Amino acid sequence: MDRSITSSCFQCNAPSETQRFGGNFAKTLSKGTTVAFYGDLGSGKTTCIKSIVSYLTNLHTEEILSPTFNFVNEYDGVYHFDLYRMNNYEEFLQRGFDEYLLSGSICLIEWAERIEGFLPKNRIKLRFKMIDETTRLISIEP
Ligand SMILES: Nc1ncnc2c1ncn2[C@@H]1O[C@H](COP(=O)(O)OP(=O)(O)OP(=O)(O)O)[C@@H](O)[C@H]1O
Ligand SMILES: [Mg+2]
Repeated sequence: MDRSITSSCFQCNAPSETQRFGGNFAKTLSKGTTVAFYGDLGSGKTTCIKSIVSYLTNLHTEEILSPTFNFVNEYDGVYHFDLYRMNNYEEFLQRGFDEYLLSGSICLIEWAERIEGFLPKNRIKLRFKMIDETTRLISIEP
């Protein structure tokens, strides 16, 4: 992991480096924090989130599955959303997911742009950029 670019932009040269970033980032999270993940398909959001969830729950990363079709997976104190297949924020509300954001749990949201206007003001944004096959840039926006 090359931190030389800026303090809030990280270069990860392999999936393992994105995993290490996730583990370190997880240490900075406090109860009730929402983290919004942005970035193209395959840019590394789930890879990163699995490491965050693993750090927070002690589960192995292999036990942490992507909520691709069910929108959300729930762990002890952590919700992992994948909203790629969600059409609009009304669907988010219909399913009662907005309550999860107020539940005091850590919420990790892939494709957060689907509910952009509903993100809590104090959310953290992580943007993933695919540079080449194995290189990703991750920037943190408070
Ligand atoms: N430096 C890297 N960091 C993360 N993943 C990488 C890296 N280099 C290669 N990869 C590969 O890129 C893919 C990332 O997939 P991942 O599911 O994490 O992306 P995603 O952003 O969650 O995509 P989606 O929007 O489809 O959910 C994996 O196949 C992984 O092995
Ligand atoms: Mg994903």
